[in-house]
Amino acid sequence: MTAAAQASPRLLVRDLAQLATPSAPGAPIRGRALRDVEVREDAFVLCEGGRIAGAGPMRELARLELDANVEELDGRGLCAIPGLVDCHTHPCFLGDRVDEFALRAGGASYEELHAAGGGIISTVRATRAGSPDELRAAVERHRGWMLRAGTTTFEGKSGYGLDQDTELASLEAVAAAGGVPTWLGAHAVPQEFDDADTYLDFALAEVLPRAAELARAADVFVEQGAFDVDQARRYLEACRGAGLALRLHGDQFTELGAVELAIELGARSIDHLEATGEAGVRSLAASEVAAVLLPASALFLDRPMPPARALADAGAAIVLATDFNPGSAFCESLALVCSLACTQLHLAPEEALTACTVNGAHVLGLGDRRGRIAAGYDADLLLLDAPDWRHLAYHLGGDLIAAVVQRGVIAWAR
Ligand code: NIG
Ligand code: FE
Repeated sequence: MTAAAQASPRLLVRDLAQLATPSAPGAPIRGRALRDVEVREDAFVLCEGGRIAGAGPMRELARLELDANVEELDGRGLCAIPGLVDCHTHPCFLGDRVDEFALRAGGASYEELHAAGGGIISTVRATRAGSPDELRAAVERHRGWMLRAGTTTFEGKSGYGLDQDTELASLEAVAAAGGVPTWLGAHAVPQEFDDADTYLDFALAEVLPRAAELARAADVFVEQGAFDVDQARRYLEACRGAGLALRLHGDQFTELGAVELAIELGARSIDHLEATGEAGVRSLAASEVAAVLLPASALFLDRPMPPARALADAGAAIVLATDFNPGSAFCESLALVCSLACTQLHLAPEEALTACTVNGAHVLGLGDRRGRIAAGYDADLLLLDAPDWRHLAYHLGGDLIAAVVQRGVIAWAR
């Protein structure tokens, strides 16, 4: 064995009650294959150098050459699943919107609060008022919440700065916390601009050049009161020209043509889809664009759920994410999202698992490295304190997570 191999940390998780992982090949997974989850009883996972070196039944463990240089984790009574991948979060904000939450509980609508200068713009004010250090600390705090909830890979969007300094500081903060940064430069029109077009002139000229170096993807909120389809096309084409993958917030409240735009531009994903009708379901299913479903956001805003069952049955590449943000989904738990997927979206637990592991990784361009327990994949594992892995969705908001392994290291344990 070489010195380098000796130095690399090895972790053996042994005697697991179950090991469950999506098993259909490739990414994204669609159709019946969304339900292909391999479940092994009495299993082990061996991690080496941050990757999965092997996984399988305990009886095969004897065949592997193990020396003393292995840390062991007792998996008795626990189930291992892949670390969860949250491909849609907005963690770069300061302050909160608990007052707005209370007003909504009293009957005010999200759109009314937004139109009255609350909503996204109020978080923009609070975020701009902080320093880059405060923003970094906030993202780090939110990352910790996600990690303890089982998320080992997170995407983080900017979009609460909407000026050059705060947008770039947001992208830097996501990268510093180990996340995958997305430039949501077109989230809302900040108050110092008269209209969306003038704001986009500024954002594309002054922010895009540096944002394209920091981010992996660009995102736009296509909605009444935000950006229309022509504005979104202009923004996304410029971002694509700068080398960014494309994402859209579309059909959250109204169908404005965001699905067609996503397909026309070859976007990685369109996210929300609460208002998507039958034609949109059919076109998405026939396309390469992933359908990211955010049931925590629909629940939090008391809106209709997205047509997840129809999308999955029609063959769309469905994905689940939290949409973690201070306004429409103050929720960092993908396990809770899996519960909502089964109870509200009528997905099977197997479909939910695939949607927030392999398929989430695909949306982030990581489909060949994350989201499975398979040799060569990054060693990201979630150990559930349950006799059956489906407790992931069954235990509604419960104390379920015993430990989180990230790149082969125990990142959190109860
Ligand atoms: O995905 N819809 C637009 N953006 C976020 C909400 C942002 C906010 O309310 O602060 C979303 O739901
Ligand atoms: Fe969002």
